[in-house]
Amino acid sequence: MTDFSRIKIAPSILSADFARLGEQVKEAEEAGADYIHFDVMDGMFVPNITVGPLVLEALKRVTDVPMDVHLMIEDPDRYLEEFARAGASVIMVHYEAVKHLHRTVQRITALGCRAGVVLNPATPISLLEDILPYLSRVLIMSVNPGFGGQSYIESSTGKVRRMREMANRLNPQLEIEVDGGAKGNNIREIAEAGADVIVAGSAVFNKEETVAQAMAKLREVLI
Ligand code: DX5
Ligand code: ZN
Repeated sequence: MTDFSRIKIAPSILSADFARLGEQVKEAEEAGADYIHFDVMDGMFVPNITVGPLVLEALKRVTDVPMDVHLMIEDPDRYLEEFARAGASVIMVHYEAVKHLHRTVQRITALGCRAGVVLNPATPISLLEDILPYLSRVLIMSVNPGFGGQSYIESSTGKVRRMREMANRLNPQLEIEVDGGAKGNNIREIAEAGADVIVAGSAVFNKEETVAQAMAKLREVLI
C-alpha cells in the first residue's frame, strides 16, 4: 500500500511567468509546494537556456521552500559552489554531463547540499549501482530534458519501480524524484511505482487555473 501523504510535489519554475517569478514562487509556497524545482539550462547540454545562481539567490529572498536545483548543463562542477552559495538545498547533476561522478557528488555534499543524480530516459539505472550509497536523490527524467509541457514517457513508470527496488537494496533512504509530463492522470501511478518527489511544471503553472487550484487538484489525486 502506498502512503500518498509522504509524496512531495515540486513545482517547476520553467512553466511559470518569468515576468513575475517571485510572485509565482510565493503562490506555489502558499499552495503547499514541498520544493521549488529550479531548472538550469545552458543551451549546450540541452537546447534551451534558462536561469542561473543570481535568480536562485533572488528567489531565496522571497521563499523558505527548499530549492531543488536541476542542472541541465555541461560540466556542472564549474558552478556547484555558486549554486550552493545561492541557496540550493539539493543539487542534481546529469549522469550524462559529468566525467567523475563520485568526485562531483562528494563536492556537492562538502558544500553542505544534498546530492542528486539525474538520468535521461535512455540512461539505464544499472549505471548507478556504485554511486547509489552516496546519494540523497535520484531524478528519473520521464521526458527528454529541455522543455516543459512534453508528454510523459510511459516506460518511466517501470523504471521508477526498478529504481525503488535497487534503492531498497543499496540505499533505503534514497529519495526518488520524477520529472516531466506529470499530471493529474498519472501522478498516482508514479507515486505507486515508488516516487517520493514529483515535479510538476505545466500542471501547476498554466493559464487555465490558479496555482492554488492546480496544486489542490494534484493533491486530490494523491489520497
Ligand atoms: C524539463 C524540465 C522539467 C520541466 C517539467 O527539461 O527538467 O523540470 O519543467 O515540465 P512539465 O511538468 O510541464 O513536463
Ligand atoms: Zn527539471
